[in-house]
Amino acid sequence: MIAMRTVTTIAGVREWRQSIPGTVGLVPTMGYLHEGHVSLVRRARAENECVAASLFVNPRQFGAGEDLNRYPRSLLRDQELFEAAGCDLLFAPPVDEMYPPGCETAVEAGSVAARLEGERRPGHFRGVATVVVKLFGIFCPARAYFGEKDAQQLVVIRRVVQDLNVPVEIVGCPTIRETDGLAMSSRNSYLNERERRAAPVLYRALTTARDCFAGGERRAGELRRVMREVLAAESLARIDYVSVADPATLHELETVAGPSLLSLAAQIGPARLIDNLVVGECSGIPNKWNERIE
Ligand code: PAJ
Repeated sequence: MIAMRTVTTIAGVREWRQSIPGTVGLVPTMGYLHEGHVSLVRRARAENECVAASLFVNPRQFGAGEDLNRYPRSLLRDQELFEAAGCDLLFAPPVDEMYPPGCETAVEAGSVAARLEGERRPGHFRGVATVVVKLFGIFCPARAYFGEKDAQQLVVIRRVVQDLNVPVEIVGCPTIRETDGLAMSSRNSYLNERERRAAPVLYRALTTARDCFAGGERRAGELRRVMREVLAAESLARIDYVSVADPATLHELETVAGPSLLSLAAQIGPARLIDNLVVGECSGIPNKWNERIE
């Protein structure tokens, strides 16, 4: 195996891009890798001739008072994990390389970015969409890989790519979990032992609602109530929101008729954690939900 290269400049990516024969699968990340990230790289490896990843803690997607300055970083370990998972090129730029003085254009995703996470984190998806579109312009990938863990992010990126006619296939990949159900996240590292033991309550709330759905419950309000009830029983968890929404538009539902996105956010100690599940007719986030937007 040829060793992975790390570059820190856009010119370095372009040079690599010209030297390789085939199409590129891109995995954008903010680093501090876990098995969730690794699963995206492996999937990209299986489906593309060349695999690139980016590691950039994007300041424009963090709000004032959020965790930009304490976001965990570990470049050397990440480089090893990216390489072992089959990555050919890692792009790890400094902030100035991505946002030189005068770089003021932003990508605004519209109503799918305004709800849920977007409502609690104003400007977050503008920052995400902007950096992702920049990465697409830098890499010209045939495919790009995103986790269903960040379900709304996946919806927003699909929407942006469709609306701006960006020629890249967006591949959604299943959420990787710890054995107790906690969705893997770089932010889990903020949790102390007690908080870590409490954190699987997010997944428990989702699976309890899923069980209710499997038992015949179709009232979305009842599923939201059940999720709230499970979360409320954990004293270390502070509920931010619970939602049962249409996975294409993210509109809150009254009745669960087709595939529905159950999602929630809760603060546990210093970490704001999110998770989701899809119920109804399919297990993951609907693959072609763009088609349902039109
Ligand atoms: P980051 O949180 O580092 O996540 C990088 C990718 O890994 C995202 O597509 C995310 O959905 C996916 N991911 C995270 N946890 C996962 C899990 N447990 N299972 C499967 N996939 C998981 O998301 C971002 O970075 C940024 O917003 C980014 C898209 C890189 C733009 O800055």
